[in-house]
Amino acid sequence: MQTKVLYLNENDIDQNVINEAGEILRKGGLVAFPTETVYGLGANALSTSAVKRIFEAKGRPQDNPLIAHISDFDELEPLVSEIPEIAEKLMEKFWPGPMTIIFKKSALIPAATSAGLDTVGIRMPSNPIAKALIKAAGVPIAAPSANISGRPSPTETDSCIEDLSGKVEMIIGGEKCEVGVESSVIDVTVDPPCILRPGGITLEMFRSVDDRIYIDPAIMRKPDADFKPKAPGMKYRHYAPKAPVKIIQGPAEKVVALINDMVQNYMDENKKVGIIATDETKDKYKGGIVVSLGRRADMDSIARNLFVTLRSFDDKDVSLILSESFEEKGKGIAIMNRLKKAAGFDIIKL
Ligand code: TXA
Ligand code: MG
Repeated sequence: MQTKVLYLNENDIDQNVINEAGEILRKGGLVAFPTETVYGLGANALSTSAVKRIFEAKGRPQDNPLIAHISDFDELEPLVSEIPEIAEKLMEKFWPGPMTIIFKKSALIPAATSAGLDTVGIRMPSNPIAKALIKAAGVPIAAPSANISGRPSPTETDSCIEDLSGKVEMIIGGEKCEVGVESSVIDVTVDPPCILRPGGITLEMFRSVDDRIYIDPAIMRKPDADFKPKAPGMKYRHYAPKAPVKIIQGPAEKVVALINDMVQNYMDENKKVGIIATDETKDKYKGGIVVSLGRRADMDSIARNLFVTLRSFDDKDVSLILSESFEEKGKGIAIMNRLKKAAGFDIIKL
């Protein structure tokens, strides 16, 4: 299939492109598009055949449900069978934005979209291109991250092209994603509500609405035999570049020293090593291919650069990627969740 790539400017959206993309979606086709979190791979959420094409294009396991994206509050009601009071409060505060809410689904949502569950995740993105596209399509848009399953999510147009060229009708190109990690997923079918995936909205922000909100304890630790996260997607290997990733955790000086030692050993064997560093440490490494995620004081920029950085090592022929670690608070919770999954929970603690 020939994939059409068209670029849009968020501040001056060409409605002709949006209309063409909306038409593709209405006819059951696939369109990748930017959101404020990561790029999404969109299809009509109400069409079983359209949604099946998402699973095929991504190589996504069939038991992993999709999120339906809406562009306005009044599009929610037909898709769900119940809107708890807490959901109203969360939507008022965090929509449009990087939050997906899990509701009991209505009969309109096909089993292919919800992967057979009786619940459905709904999100209203804030990115103007995403909003315009959903509106033009006139249907809710199922959109997982626009990557091949298992790979780091795309936060730039080039990453979508890399993963999806030839598999989708259209890719709408745009800016680098502002948030850089996926939406927070929060389940309001239980009381108190439970965070199934940490993301753009932090635990602290959720607790300002209801201080009983907590994170599903299953998702931050290494999966074992009885690992049953409530978000099916959280059990799969994910966010992984081609080379294995190892996280080094501890005081900065010690982390740098150990990474320098490890890199030296690899260099002695004529192997290349990638280093995921920060602005504070990047000049202290004596070898390896060093990429900084940004300043530690600016966790938003660390989140924004994480997935492109993981992907950047794929064409550098590295045998191993060593990564610094981040404090698990605020955005750091989502960052460490992605990094630990990318590393398959391979962590050296100093
Ligand atoms: O930021 C985002 O959420 C992006 C953009 C494109 O909107 N989308 C995204 O979708 O990350 P995806 O499919 O890559 O991740 C959705 C996550 C998966 O872990 C999935 O298992 C979980 O949400 N999920 C979806 N529906 C669910 C449901 N009904 N119950 C529990 N978990 C659900
Ligand atoms: Mg994904």
